[in-house]
Amino acid sequence: MAKSREVFVCDQCGNESLQWQGLCPMCGAGDSLRRVAVAARSKPERRSLAASSAEPQRLAQVAEHDEPRVATGLEELDRVLGGGLVLGSVALLGGDPGIGKSTMLLQAGDALSRATPTLYVTGEESLRQVSLRARRLGLAGDTLQLLAETSVDTIIEHARDSGARVLVIDSIQTMFASEVESSPGSAAQVRESAAALVRFAKSTGVSVLIIGHVTKEGVIAGPRILEHMVDTVLYFESDAGSRFRLVRAVKNRFGAANEVGVFAMTEQGLKEVKNPSAIFLSQHAQPVSGSAVMVAREGSRPMLIEVQALTDDAQGMNPRRVAVGLEANRLALLLAVLHRHGGIATSGRDVFVNVVGGVRISETAADLPAVLATVSSARDEPLAGRLVCFGELGLAGEIRPVPYGEERLREAAKHGFERAIVPEANKPRRAIDGLQVIGVERLADALRSAF
Ligand code: TYD
Ligand code: MG
Repeated sequence: MAKSREVFVCDQCGNESLQWQGLCPMCGAGDSLRRVAVAARSKPERRSLAASSAEPQRLAQVAEHDEPRVATGLEELDRVLGGGLVLGSVALLGGDPGIGKSTMLLQAGDALSRATPTLYVTGEESLRQVSLRARRLGLAGDTLQLLAETSVDTIIEHARDSGARVLVIDSIQTMFASEVESSPGSAAQVRESAAALVRFAKSTGVSVLIIGHVTKEGVIAGPRILEHMVDTVLYFESDAGSRFRLVRAVKNRFGAANEVGVFAMTEQGLKEVKNPSAIFLSQHAQPVSGSAVMVAREGSRPMLIEVQALTDDAQGMNPRRVAVGLEANRLALLLAVLHRHGGIATSGRDVFVNVVGGVRISETAADLPAVLATVSSARDEPLAGRLVCFGELGLAGEIRPVPYGEERLREAAKHGFERAIVPEANKPRRAIDGLQVIGVERLADALRSAF
């Protein structure tokens, strides 16, 4: 039997201290440390999945074997997980309230339960509410086990007794572990409840899927403090008004990080969007100013995405630079390069840039579209219709190539785009049918080609 030891966990930031102190040494919050009894980890409990090897072996001799996986019934979810749910792994599904986390895992849980015993635990809704939703989703529900419970110890007992191989926890913010004094939802509770579930998963080989709300106040008692404890972290991305949902793997021990799955929220729950390439384009009858279409590469596939910009006279001394879906610092940098190497000043102007559909783009291929959309808005001059662009912008005003240039261009051609402004080095060797590709080396060339 594992011995237990005591630590003090901060309610605000989740930091662990060995001694009680009036102020948290990490975040400085007052009177926020709570006593937590944690089980001293015994060895086999530690990582049964990443099994410790008895002795060193040569790299080439390590036997290759794939982890056993089960399909979730949603191919797009399997795709972000890296090819299905790995048995014995712990995954965290995070997102804003109301975005579709419960819906997704109820659908997946029902499909999983057909292949392997699955227990869905709700701490948020009554069994009746869950069953009403299941009916609405058209789920048979004859194999999925349901439990309404918030005590992690009781849940683990039930999971053991029922022989479940997959355990869904909805949501971690409602759960509590009895050894922690603070209330459910506090950082200490979220952390210890999750830790107990992870220990259970690793010692038994049961897969645990944990739902976590991303709270408005940010990350404090939200899923962020759990990211390092679990194998896989998935986040929902979406616009408030949009029916499309992107699920992105921000961490995955069993697959590619940054892979995305695309879903649409319908009356019958989440439906997969298998060919998501063009769903993030607005439908403009006529070209409008302040809009540029780029070919982004999200996860392992290209997607056409519209980047919009609006410039306006600034009120007051400090013009605003607001970026939604792009990094704000990147926007400030791009505007500086635009001034210096494109001769277009935005001082005294507010600049807003938005990626359509609530998508977040982290790749630098969005530089050129963001700049062209901004100039288009500033001059109130639309870019040509059927035009795509992508490319990284350097501080010296050079346009740098981005990975997978040819694949992006083929995707644009497939969707009927006729012209592309891209980094010179991304020009394909062989022509692409129906697509005129203009290679540019400097920002000034790009501006000349675009307007
Ligand atoms: P839900 O899965 O409850 O969100 P979360 O668990 O992330 O808080 O999804 C809630 C929203 O989805 C709610 O506004 C209703 C909508 N919805 C549909 O549009 N269709 C459906 O079939 C279901 C079940 C929900
Ligand atoms: Mg929910």
